[in-house]
Amino acid sequence: MTTDDRWDGLLLDVGLATLVDNGVPYGAIADGAIGWRDGVITFAGPRSELAGDPHALAHRVESLPGTWVTPGLIDCHTHLVFGGDRAQEFEQRLEGASYEEIARAGGGIVSSVRATRAASEDDLLRQSLPRAKALLADGVTTLEIKSGYGLEPDAERRMLRVARRIGVELGIDVRTSFLGMHALPPEYAGRRDEYVALVCDTMLPSLAGEELVDAVDAFCEGIGFTHDETERLFRKASELGLPVKLHAEQLSDLGGAALVARYSGLSADHLEWTSEEGVRAMAEAGTVAVLLPGAYYALRDTRPPPIEAFRRHGVAMAVATDLNPGTSPLLSLRLAMGMACTLFRLTPEEALRGATVHAAHALGLDDRGILAPGRRADLAIWNIRHLPELCYWIGGDLLREVRVAGERPHE
Ligand code: NIG
Ligand code: FE
Repeated sequence: MTTDDRWDGLLLDVGLATLVDNGVPYGAIADGAIGWRDGVITFAGPRSELAGDPHALAHRVESLPGTWVTPGLIDCHTHLVFGGDRAQEFEQRLEGASYEEIARAGGGIVSSVRATRAASEDDLLRQSLPRAKALLADGVTTLEIKSGYGLEPDAERRMLRVARRIGVELGIDVRTSFLGMHALPPEYAGRRDEYVALVCDTMLPSLAGEELVDAVDAFCEGIGFTHDETERLFRKASELGLPVKLHAEQLSDLGGAALVARYSGLSADHLEWTSEEGVRAMAEAGTVAVLLPGAYYALRDTRPPPIEAFRRHGVAMAVATDLNPGTSPLLSLRLAMGMACTLFRLTPEEALRGATVHAAHALGLDDRGILAPGRRADLAIWNIRHLPELCYWIGGDLLREVRVAGERPHE
């Protein structure tokens, strides 16, 4: 290898959770090495398979004994751009009010809409950036952010622009989802059709034209939008060539999982009320099940998603924070992974796959999520002895550092 061919970086004496199917749990390699160049992994394997002097192989060589490297975590479902908070609603729920009652009384999502509409773009960025930083501090290198607290063209645009700016500010990859059909804005009470038309015929095409929309989402629920309204949105998304995903069956079964599967959706999310038929449709379409244990926990839900059926039908399960001001003020994807184990009985390995490779697929990304040559060098480096520790510790500071396409993200 000549000097110019050298890799940019090489880590030695690390454990690797490659998540590649090599017959070992986690695709683990205990005494591993990982190298990258131009943001892409060039080598991920046993240290013993690295021939020659490491310094002849890479510009920067680091030995990190006592660490494990996993793919950078991918939070594939967040609503982290919003104004204000809903701590008062938390108190109301503890006093006995349900999420649906609060929403029907004009609180819930609509109260975040008021605070978000009142915020300027810079103000929204200032409020939202610390939340993104908190996720990064616990290992996230790819982040999905939804709109849905604007519910009018300008405020939805502001949210999506802030999402893009967060990616630039932090030097991480942010994927956006347009969630104009999150709740009916109060000014459209009694005029649902007009709002659905505004979303489908005006907002979505114009925001997509501004390159602000990577995927299209909706809240298909009694307090959200009906099956038919959701389908109208999906038809429009398909016309525009945009992938779809759906908040489905969180509080009741409106057949959302089967609907999003019919549109070859990337993911169906929540899924506490999903039927066997819905699971089967997802399996056939390859639609990922995104589990959101933070919302389940915060709403003190008692009906877990049908995990056993997902396993039986071979539906890939992702895990995400659902970071939002109402139902999941959760600032750690690693904690969501722990909750997925404790509350939904995922294994720690399933939870890690859920926050990496399956989360990547829930965003339509196949260039990341495992440690293998040719994949993006998105890495999380952890000070742990055993991989299940990622789910076992509740809180704490396990992360040594992350690399995003081989680089350290901005502070
Ligand atoms: O994913 N369910 C709908 N959307 C969010 C909650 C949003 C909110 O309450 O502000 C969720 O749980
Ligand atoms: Fe959500």
